[in-house]
Amino acid sequence: MCGIVGYIGTQDSKEVLLKGLEKLEYRGYDSAGIAVMGEEHVQIFKEKGRIADLRKIVDPNFFANVGIGHTRWATHGVPSQKNAHPHKSASGRFTLVHNGVIENYEGLKREYLMDVPLKSDTDTEVIVQLVEKFADSGLSVEEAFRTTLKQLKGSYAIALLDELNHDMIYVAKNKSPLLIGLGDTFNVVASDAMAMLQVTDQFVEIMDKEIVIVTQNNITIKNLDGDVIERSPYTAELDASDIEKGTYPHFMLKEIDEQPLVIRKIIQKYQNEAGELQIDPKIIDAVKGADRIYIIAAGTSYHAGLVGKQYIEKLASIPVEVHISSEFGYNMPLLSAQPLFIFISQSGETADSRAVLVQIKAMGHKALTITNVPGSTLSREADYTLLLYAGPEIAVASTKAYTAQIAVLAILAQVTAQAVGRGNDMDLLQEFGIAANAIEMLCDSKVEFEDMAREYLAITRNAFFIGRGIDYYVGLEGALKLKEISYIQAEGFAGGELKHGTIALIEDGTPVIALATQASVNLSIRGNVKEVVARGAHPCIISMKGLESEEDRFVIPAVHELLTPLVSVVPLQLFAYYAALHRDCDVDKPRNLAKSVTVE
Ligand code: M6R
Repeated sequence: MCGIVGYIGTQDSKEVLLKGLEKLEYRGYDSAGIAVMGEEHVQIFKEKGRIADLRKIVDPNFFANVGIGHTRWATHGVPSQKNAHPHKSASGRFTLVHNGVIENYEGLKREYLMDVPLKSDTDTEVIVQLVEKFADSGLSVEEAFRTTLKQLKGSYAIALLDELNHDMIYVAKNKSPLLIGLGDTFNVVASDAMAMLQVTDQFVEIMDKEIVIVTQNNITIKNLDGDVIERSPYTAELDASDIEKGTYPHFMLKEIDEQPLVIRKIIQKYQNEAGELQIDPKIIDAVKGADRIYIIAAGTSYHAGLVGKQYIEKLASIPVEVHISSEFGYNMPLLSAQPLFIFISQSGETADSRAVLVQIKAMGHKALTITNVPGSTLSREADYTLLLYAGPEIAVASTKAYTAQIAVLAILAQVTAQAVGRGNDMDLLQEFGIAANAIEMLCDSKVEFEDMAREYLAITRNAFFIGRGIDYYVGLEGALKLKEISYIQAEGFAGGELKHGTIALIEDGTPVIALATQASVNLSIRGNVKEVVARGAHPCIISMKGLESEEDRFVIPAVHELLTPLVSVVPLQLFAYYAALHRDCDVDKPRNLAKSVTVE
C-alpha cells in the first residue's frame, strides 16, 4: 500500500526520491508525488497514475537537497491529483506525506479546523493543518508535531517538511512501517529498506509512537513526550539484485521460477549440522503446549494456513482452526484453554492480522509469526518468528511466499510430531528435494502452460477450480491468483459441493480446472468432473503421476501426497500469469491491489 521516501543530503534529492518510489511501486498505488525544498519554497509535483507519469511533470531544473515522496493507495477520497500526497498546510509552510488511516480525522476537523478550508478529501490533510495550527499557537515545530501526533487515533507513518527550516525532515510512526537509512553525507527515510538499498544498507528502526528528527548528518529519536531514545543501526540483509527483474519480463515469472531455490534454501536454514530438521525448541514447546492452534492470515497466506492445518493435525495431532484475520476480531470463536496463535504473513505488515495480534496479546496469549520479512511488525510483536527465506517478493500476486509458507508449516508440523512422540517415516528433507525437482520440471514446461492458458482462459469470463481435501485448498489459491491478475471471475470449490449450487453456473465451454493429486479422493473428483462435463464444461484435469488417466490435460511428477500443494500450485500460478499476459493485464501491478495491505 502507500509508500514513503525521504532524502536529506548534499545531492539533488529528486532522483533519489523517484528511484525510491519506483522501488515501492510493487506495494500497489494509484497516485504519487514528491515535495522538494528549494531555496525559496517547497515545490510539490504530484500526479494520478504511475511514477512514470510523475516523472514527466517533475521540473529537472529545480534543485533541492531535501525532499519527501509518496505513493498513495486511496482510502479516503478517490485517486486523483488533488488527493495525492504530499499535502500542504493552509499557509504553505508545512508539507506532509502519510501512510495509514486516521480514524478520528472527522472529529479533529470539527474540533480544531472549522476555520481552515481543506483542499483534499483525505484524512491526511488534517494532520498537516493541525501541525500548523499548533505551531501558530506558539509551539516549536517539534512540539507542534508531537502535540498533533498525540491527537491522532489510528495508524500513521509520516514525513514532514517545514519551509522555514531547510535542514530537517520530521518523521513519525505508529502501526505503519517506516525506517531511517543512514549514509555518509545524507540520511534517508523509507517505508521499507528496498526503497533505499540503492544508497545504503544501514537502517535504524522506528518504533510505534516515536518521532525522528532527521538531518543530513544526524538522527534524533524521541518518544511523544520528547525523551531521547538511543538505537543502533542494523545492516539490511538484502541484495539490490534480489529486487531486480534481471532478464525476466515480470517479477511474477521470476518468483515462480525461484520456488525450487526457495525450498532448497529452507531445507538449508531449518537443518542442523547432523542433517536433521530443527526449529527453535522454545517454539516447539509453545506448539506442543497448545491444546488448539489458531492460524490467522489473509489471502494467499490464509490458503497456506489451510494446508498447514492438515499438516499439524495429521502429523502432530494437535487441533487447528484457520481464520481469516479480518473476520476473527469481530467474530472470535470460543477459545480453548491453552491456545497458540500462528500468524502467517508474507509481508509481516498486514493490518487485519496485526489487529488480531494486538487483541490476543492483550488477552495474554502467545503468538508465533511465520513471515518473509525479518523485523516486520508481526514478527516484532509476536513472541516467536519463523522466517520464510523466500527473498523479496515484489509481484503483487504471491507465489514463492506461498510455497515457502507451506514448506515451513510442514517442517513445523514434522518437528512437533517428533517432539510429541508421533514420529513418522516420512523423510521430509528428501521429499522436499523431490518436490523442488518436480517444480523445476514444471517451470521448464512453460510453453505448455502458456498454450493451456490460451486455450482455456484467453476469452472466458469465468473459471472454476475444483478439488477435494488438500487439492481444494490449492484450488482456492489457483482461483485467487487468476482473479487478481487476469480479472477473470474465478472461484475455487470443493468437488462435492458443486451439486449443492455452483453447478448451476456451468455453461457450454466454462473452464473447470480440476486437481487430482490425492489417491483417496481420485475417483470422487473425477466423478465431479464428469458432472460438469455433462453440463458443457471445458475440463482441465491436472493429476499426479500414479493417479493419471487418459482424460488428463497435465500430469505433475509424483511427490509425497502431503506435499502436493507445493507442486500442484505451480501450473495454476503459470495459468494465471499467462492468462493475464494474453489479456494485456499489468501482471505485477494488478488494478486496485496492494502488496502490503497496511490498512484494516
Ligand atoms: O503479506 P500477507 O501475506 O499478510 O498478505 C496477505 C494477502 O494480502 C496476500 O496474500 C494477497 O492475497 C496476495 N496478493 C495474493 O496473491
